[in-house]
Amino acid sequence: MNNQLIIFDTTLRDGEQSPGASLSVSEKVEIAKQLEKLNVDVIEAGFPVSSPEQYEAVERISNEVGVTVAALARAKEIDIKSAYDAIKNGEKKRIHTFSSTSDYHILGKFGDDRYGRTLAEKRETIIKMSYDMVKYAKSLVDDVEFSAEDAGRTDLNYLVEVIEAAIEAGATTINIPDTTGYTFPREFGEKIAYLKKKVKNIENAIISVHCHNDLGLAVANSIAGIENGARQVECTINGIGERAGNAALEEIVMALKVRKDILGIESKIDTKEIMNTSKLVSGYTGIIVQPNKAIVGENAFAHESGIHQDGMLKNRETYEIMTPETVGVQNTKIVLGRHSGRHGLKARLDELGYKVAPEDLNNIYKSFTKLADKKKEVYDDDLRILMGDSKNRNEAIYDLKYMHVFGGSSTIPTATVRIKVDGKVNEDSATGDGPVDALFNAIDRAIDKKPTVESYRVRSVTAGREALGEVAVRIRKDDRSYTGVGVSTDIIEASGKAYIQAINKKEHHERIKNKLQNEEELKGEI
Ligand code: KIV
Ligand code: ZN
Repeated sequence: MNNQLIIFDTTLRDGEQSPGASLSVSEKVEIAKQLEKLNVDVIEAGFPVSSPEQYEAVERISNEVGVTVAALARAKEIDIKSAYDAIKNGEKKRIHTFSSTSDYHILGKFGDDRYGRTLAEKRETIIKMSYDMVKYAKSLVDDVEFSAEDAGRTDLNYLVEVIEAAIEAGATTINIPDTTGYTFPREFGEKIAYLKKKVKNIENAIISVHCHNDLGLAVANSIAGIENGARQVECTINGIGERAGNAALEEIVMALKVRKDILGIESKIDTKEIMNTSKLVSGYTGIIVQPNKAIVGENAFAHESGIHQDGMLKNRETYEIMTPETVGVQNTKIVLGRHSGRHGLKARLDELGYKVAPEDLNNIYKSFTKLADKKKEVYDDDLRILMGDSKNRNEAIYDLKYMHVFGGSSTIPTATVRIKVDGKVNEDSATGDGPVDALFNAIDRAIDKKPTVESYRVRSVTAGREALGEVAVRIRKDDRSYTGVGVSTDIIEASGKAYIQAINKKEHHERIKNKLQNEEELKGEI
């Protein structure tokens, strides 16, 4: 049997469904380019019909990267048409369509009598819808993937019937999601083995697995699926995703690499790019990686106890099953300082995976020298933050030009801000419970909006007293949340940057939505 594993990365689709992880279009494009560098086989770039930003992101990624780009669509004509439109100009394109197949989902989502009165009738309707929509997708592109949503809890014989219909209609990848993270590894592996044995013409399709982590078993289940014949795995960077997340790409890839002796299955992933990708995703989504997380956590390669350190010094293999270098963790941490020049900065940024256009280098260098003045040693993580920051400034609708915050144990915390809004400068001041509250109140007054702050988190990014502090602020409007991340050696300033960035994301989203609504209304009038 083929021993090559297809890595289908869904960080930008399922991963972005993590609460508060909303990414801007340009952040998604940048992550997609890094995923290409990591050498994933397929990038699921989004769900185009679900929002104008999703559509735009899928379209841009499809036009700008060379790997296969998948667009998600329910088994509905409108979804499939929108998925196709978004990817049609791309080099390699895939439509990924899905139907619900478990009784829980069928009775919950297809309760309406027009799908049939009994469960048996509804099941038949779903088979027909799946067949028709795979066929429609196949009329648009060659590469069609079909997913049986909640396959983990679907009656196995019914699952066989649905999959046979999808293959007959032209699906070339059949995905088996454990949507609710319910199954156990042995059970999930047996399901894959059963499907491989029973489904007619299964040899015409690649079996894929897509596991969620509700019981902490997503990676174990994915590996059980691979052991039993799956040759595509759907996963996300850092394991982000709906609820407890998806299977973590880095864990699956490194498990296969380290234990090649057991499975003999390989991926094409360039493992040295794992750390860069993990940091980029964490920085843009604001979802921090837990320190003890396998492969990419801060402590993944730290040896604390004397016995371990002694063993490591004598022979690394005593306590290390893979080297940190394999996943792109560098041992040399301090890279630059205030005396470093443009060449040194550009070379280091290149190594970290950032393509700096000559016309941008001056501005980036200016921000670098400002930072190097505040910090003696500039670490790789500082540079990553600097790059994220310079990107976000370009997209600002609200540009925080100035802030002054005044606090102390016996004064009323007060803040004054100056914000450029669509070319006009607004100034305002406010007081608050503390300096951060005062600052947020002043910003609210200056922009005449008061978003609900859902969460506020602060942490230090690098080591030392003058370390950069990173603040992540999540705000909510209607049914969506938006996360902004700000970084500075001053955490009050970082708070202001994070809050403004979250507001900018919300504003971008609302402006695109309104623009499309107006266009629709205008069409109606014409
Ligand atoms: O978890 C799931 O079932 C999904 C499908 C859309 C593949 O994400
Ligand atoms: Zn999923």
